[in-house]
Amino acid sequence: MKPRILIIDDEKLLRWSLARKLEEWGYDPAQAATCAEATEKFHSDPPDLALLDIKLPDGNGVELLRQLPKEDFSGPVIMITADPQVEDVKTALRLGAYDYLCKPVNLDELRLTIGNALEASQLRAQVANLRDQAQRGMERPEFIGKSPAARQLIEFVLRAAASPANALLLQGESGTGKDLIARILHQESPRRDGPYVPVNCSAIPENLLEAELFGHEKGAFTDAKAMKKGLFEIAAGGTIFLDEIGELPLALQSKLLRTLEDQSIRRLGGVRDIRVDVRVVAASNRNLEDEVAAGRFRQDLYYRLMVIPVFIPPLRSHKEDIPILTAFFIEQFNRRFGKHIEGVTPEAAALMESYSWPGNVRELRNAIQRAMILEDTPRIQADCLPFAPKSRLFMAAAAFPDREDQANTPGQWRRLPNGRFLPDLRIPAGGTSLEEIEKHLVIEALRQTQGNQSRAARLLDISRDTIRYAIKKHGLQDSERQDANP
Ligand SMILES: Nc1ncnc2c1ncn2[C@@H]1O[C@H](COP(=O)(O)OP(=O)(O)OP(=O)(O)O)[C@@H](O)[C@H]1O
Ligand SMILES: [Mg+2]
Repeated sequence: MKPRILIIDDEKLLRWSLARKLEEWGYDPAQAATCAEATEKFHSDPPDLALLDIKLPDGNGVELLRQLPKEDFSGPVIMITADPQVEDVKTALRLGAYDYLCKPVNLDELRLTIGNALEASQLRAQVANLRDQAQRGMERPEFIGKSPAARQLIEFVLRAAASPANALLLQGESGTGKDLIARILHQESPRRDGPYVPVNCSAIPENLLEAELFGHEKGAFTDAKAMKKGLFEIAAGGTIFLDEIGELPLALQSKLLRTLEDQSIRRLGGVRDIRVDVRVVAASNRNLEDEVAAGRFRQDLYYRLMVIPVFIPPLRSHKEDIPILTAFFIEQFNRRFGKHIEGVTPEAAALMESYSWPGNVRELRNAIQRAMILEDTPRIQADCLPFAPKSRLFMAAAAFPDREDQANTPGQWRRLPNGRFLPDLRIPAGGTSLEEIEKHLVIEALRQTQGNQSRAARLLDISRDTIRYAIKKHGLQDSERQDANP
């Protein structure tokens, strides 16, 4: 459906030429020459956006703007005026007009402003929609866990959500549920009716990030043909979730700190501060303290965010929750795949209990998803788990790549052109050790082959001499191999 745009102006020629342009740009124009006519149109034929002249024969456009909420119109309004009076413009913007343009209207500018305004209002509508869904309990995020660690966490999260704090920091390894907790923090806060705006700081190119977050004025830079609100303004009254905050460039870190202190932002190229009432929930899977020590994260911002720190524990520290999480995900995927899996076999449960879950709950969820695709008995067998010694899953993992999660989850495998499999590795910010990885791979290969050196060497695609050398180099005596064997 084409967006409908109502042109409210007493100049017939202007209405006519604008209407033709709007049609050309793919919109559905409607016209009104007076306030009365406009009011009637807002009722009978509600537009998605309005272009509003200030001087109208039967009243003032600014007055009409003031009435619009009563007409149940909440779409963007762009003021168009021949003779901008500072007072009028100010009032219009305060009343929520999206922007104003001067006559004669520059068509490029008009087109851009309309495009931006519609985009922003669509975004708002989407957010409202998601909120509705959440309120109706459809997509309500549910945090699963009964262990003392999980209970403590959720209790703390609920208290933090209700607090008046405008900055919170979530820390936890990848896959521990930071996204989930951030959404709960919003939904359980007094801001739940405001927007929830998640931003992944590492996904937006650095040169665009500032304008995305803080917006820009018309003419702030070459491409800034119209004013654009930033995500902070869009999140006003609600929560902005700054994921991977460690990736925020230092200059933006100080701007963020100022925003938190002053509760206001300034658009790029702007001269005035705009008050925004936003709560910032920041998250990082890096240890921010280390980042501060390394000079990559501002200490003052760190302390500001640490006023309410939320630590999400890794799954290996609350393994008691594995069974309930497993049941939860099985139910979820039963519904999605139309399957009737009842649970896991005792062997599978024991294996899951002994595994260390480096990718945390996300890895557990993925493991269950994959196993369920593969399993055709009522219960998930151990060999359907990706980390099982004789997993049937290497092939399945390659056949069912999971786009959302693939990059982050250890324990997933890529197939190389030579037919071998390589784990997807991400090196943590704190670094790792090639020697340790080699040692662990050798131990694991020996474990899987019950200490058979030739077969272990074949698993690793190395010669028997090489594996013997590695066993000696890493001091892997028989006793140690036993230790590594859970
Ligand atoms: N306690 C939990 N109960 C139910 N689902 C959970 C729980 N913890 C995590 N999940 C699920 O696990 C998956 C990964 O969680 P999430 O995306 O929140 O992790 P994250 O900490 O943000 O990871 P990353 O640092 O990689 O972004 C999601 O599908 C999430 O819904
Ligand atoms: Mg996340």
